[in-house]
Amino acid sequence: MSAQELSGSTALVTGASRGFGRGIAIALAGAGANVVGVARDRASLEELHAQLGDAFTPVAADAADPVVAGELMDRYHPRVLVLAAGAAPLSRPLQRHTWETFSSNWNTDVRQVFHWTREALLRPLEEGSVVIAFSSGAALRGSPLSGGYAGAKATIRFVSAYAADESARAGLGIRFVSVLPPATDLGAAAVAAYAQRQGVDLATYTENLGPALTPEHAGKAILGLVEAPAPGAAAEAYVLTAEGLRPIP
Ligand SMILES: NC(=O)c1ccc[n+]([C@@H]2O[C@H](COP(=O)([O-])OP(=O)(O)OC[C@H]3O[C@@H](n4cnc5c(N)ncnc54)[C@H](OP(=O)(O)O)[C@@H]3O)[C@@H](O)[C@H]2O)c1
Repeated sequence: MSAQELSGSTALVTGASRGFGRGIAIALAGAGANVVGVARDRASLEELHAQLGDAFTPVAADAADPVVAGELMDRYHPRVLVLAAGAAPLSRPLQRHTWETFSSNWNTDVRQVFHWTREALLRPLEEGSVVIAFSSGAALRGSPLSGGYAGAKATIRFVSAYAADESARAGLGIRFVSVLPPATDLGAAAVAAYAQRQGVDLATYTENLGPALTPEHAGKAILGLVEAPAPGAAAEAYVLTAEGLRPIP
């Protein structure tokens, strides 16, 4: 999608109230998009609304609720859909999880991506639209202190790839992309748990992670991704670091 096409079009961002989603909402609004931001806490969305003004429409809702996905897709039919909402996993070894804590990222992150992806294909979104789902670097190598998190994030990458294939088969021209950020100091609880597990102090562990990926980095990278020409009909997946996006073969 060109910068001209993005300007004045609607972008819907889940998880827009903080972290990567907030950085992405700010970047897309800065590029002239009308941004609809979804999160459950109304107060933090209102704060962003005060900062961005009319370019931002706050919607306090549960992004994992299929009714919310259906209603918001019907109301806004976005050209850009960024699924950045995610639950913070409980940082504990496997045996200290219950099924409920283990499956929390399935019930929020995967459920959300499943419902919104399905809506994007069924509607379908306009040709040239882009749907970006947040997976995680944990999907590539596991995350033993985070219950079902890594498996949930791997499934999000699969769902995005399956949708890209369905889009190509039906000639819909919708891009489906998954992005995989590494653990950053934004995922502070998880980082502290892994540092303790390895017996190193937090500062050493964080330093070993490399330059931190900030919401501003995420916003810039996602804006670049949206404005880049589609590389073809194949599924797209990228590792997202402070240096930008690196395609995963
Ligand atoms: N930060 C990292 O190190 C890291 C690494 C790899 C992958 N990721 C992934 O990147 C995405 C963003 O991460 P982040 O660190 O920016 O997260 P964050 O700072 O914890 O923010 C999460 C956002 O999602 C919203 N949210 C959570 N559950 C929701 C629900 N059911 N419905 C609507 N909104 C919901 C939160 O707002 P409310 O609580 O108000 O709803 C908040 O806006 C997530 O999918 C995460 O798994 C993050």
